[in-house]
Amino acid sequence: MINKLISLKEETIKSLGDLSDQKSLSEMRTRVLGRKGELTTLLRTLKDFQPEERSAIGKLANEIKVDLESRFDSREKFFIEELEQRDLEKEFIDVTLPGRRHGFGKLHVLNVVTAELIEVFSGLGFQLAEGPEVELDYYNFEALNIPKDHPARDMQDTFYFSENVVLRTHTSPVQIRTMEKSRPPVRIICPGKVYRRDADITHSPMFMQIEGLWVDRHVSLADLKGVLTAFVEEYFGVGIGLRFRPSFFPFTEPSAEVDIQCVICGGSGCRTCSFTGWLEILGSGMVDPALYGFVGYDPEVYSGFAFGMGIERIAMLKYGIPDIRSFYENDVRFLRQF
Ligand code: PHE
Repeated sequence: MINKLISLKEETIKSLGDLSDQKSLSEMRTRVLGRKGELTTLLRTLKDFQPEERSAIGKLANEIKVDLESRFDSREKFFIEELEQRDLEKEFIDVTLPGRRHGFGKLHVLNVVTAELIEVFSGLGFQLAEGPEVELDYYNFEALNIPKDHPARDMQDTFYFSENVVLRTHTSPVQIRTMEKSRPPVRIICPGKVYRRDADITHSPMFMQIEGLWVDRHVSLADLKGVLTAFVEEYFGVGIGLRFRPSFFPFTEPSAEVDIQCVICGGSGCRTCSFTGWLEILGSGMVDPALYGFVGYDPEVYSGFAFGMGIERIAMLKYGIPDIRSFYENDVRFLRQF
């Protein structure tokens, strides 16, 4: 029995050295020291021995068990460390490799154009103003002289949060918000996103506008023409003709749409201008005195003009972009160009 125990110990120690991984180590541990393992099986025969022998054999068996267990443990530790070491080597960082370059980001073309427009109008004395995109029906329609049943609402159908809360359809509500909280002179420029139920090659359900408003004593249609002419010359170039076409907006009277000479063909007629030689760029007019009633200005003392233009439209004309959807598709090949 004693010999058997000793040779079990020696064989186990010998084959421990031959093991190459954790899996075979744990299989071997079970085979030798497990509940049905070789050592345990040997010890089952202990009851056949005399009591004195039994205790000597038991003592030896126990020593062997403790010894083997610690050998298994240290072998296991060795395997684990070896694995960690291999992982570390895999993570080795070659500091001599060239770095990965990150491209520089840039402003979206619509933000560039917005900044340029603000710049031009700041030069003409306009101050930046902003308003919320989720707007009250009151500011978006009601106080702009567009009552609930007015047909002008048809052209500006939008997303309703509730009966009185909408996604604004234009930047004109900022006119009312600004006049409500300040006294003339008011000279503001307000860019921002607006929303309409509209989608085709030149219309998007979300787009951007920039609104201008100038209210003071003695502001006239001549001032409107002067400001817009200065803007067109500065932004599109001196010599680009513009014309005022009578139009209608519930919040301006009289109203005019402004066209510029086609920047693609110079006015001789092409596909972009539908062979008219002209491109519509904005809506404008003298502030309808009815609006002053909503903000507490005296219409006998003050007058003013307002205009609103689509920023995408301006960008499309400035850079010759044929499809409005290109602005929102996030295709870097498009966006990189500006
Ligand atoms: N708000 C008008 C629109 O979106 C444009 C406009 C602004 C017209 C200011 C006149 C004065 O169509």
